[in-house]
Amino acid sequence: MLEERTQALISERLQGMDKLPSMPLLYGKLQKLLQDPKSSMDDIAHILSSDPAMTMSLLRLVNSAAFGLRVKVTNIKSAATFLGLRAIASLLSGLSVVRAFGQTKASTLFNPAQFWVHSLGVGFTARRFAQVLDVKDTEGCFLGGMLHDVGRLVLSQHLTEDFTKALLAADRTNTLLLEQEEAVFGFSHCDVGLYLADAWNLPDELRLAIAWHHKPHLLPKAHLAHQKLVTIVGKANQVCIHQAVGASGETRMSPPHAFSAVDFKACDLTGTVETVKSDIQATFAELQKIMG
Ligand SMILES: [Fe+2]
Ligand SMILES: [Fe+2]
Repeated sequence: MLEERTQALISERLQGMDKLPSMPLLYGKLQKLLQDPKSSMDDIAHILSSDPAMTMSLLRLVNSAAFGLRVKVTNIKSAATFLGLRAIASLLSGLSVVRAFGQTKASTLFNPAQFWVHSLGVGFTARRFAQVLDVKDTEGCFLGGMLHDVGRLVLSQHLTEDFTKALLAADRTNTLLLEQEEAVFGFSHCDVGLYLADAWNLPDELRLAIAWHHKPHLLPKAHLAHQKLVTIVGKANQVCIHQAVGASGETRMSPPHAFSAVDFKACDLTGTVETVKSDIQATFAELQKIMG
């Protein structure tokens, strides 16, 4: 899906750098489990039994208002009973990616913990929009939101100096960081995110959300089946940027017509993000722990 020229450019820039993180073990195990129709909550509980820190983090997030549970869940099995196997698996998948990247150096321009607050915020917001709009793949929307900007972590970890240049230029000229990435690198966080998603063999809807969340209206015809999901992730990103849910370095918004493929009238945009925001800020310390 990535153009050959862009792919070559990214490979060249990343050559000789520390290795890209490999797909988190937990993520791979969960995907396998989800593909098996016979999987049960016991299987997830078993996978997590050797990972008490992840279990704790998961339970804290699940008990946050974002999930709207009326009871407090205290173990994985009851979390899965209330939310479903898929929701738990996708939340764990997202958290496993947070951990795979670990702690990167924070700068005044790009703070990894704030980055994950943004990512989780977009994930929760997209999930909520999907519920309101009756989109079946709510968990795809969540994970797409959680991972949409993952390319920025690659840029900040591996190409730090030039990424800082792009951040400064966006700030100075009041333009999209996306455009400044293209000017400095010849590719954007969307391209490098797709490069990683290809390496990890992520499913199509996640690769598309990563690659097209800023321009869902330009999605190639062959992928139109996923346009709704990509547009929901894109819109969730816009409102989270607008209401400063965490930060991914981007402070400006893409033009609204890019998201016109979906009618968001039924979604309380501001209200949803406000709820998600207070919720996620409360999990900031949790995210820092996962990052190690
Ligand atoms: Fe983005
Ligand atoms: Fe974003």
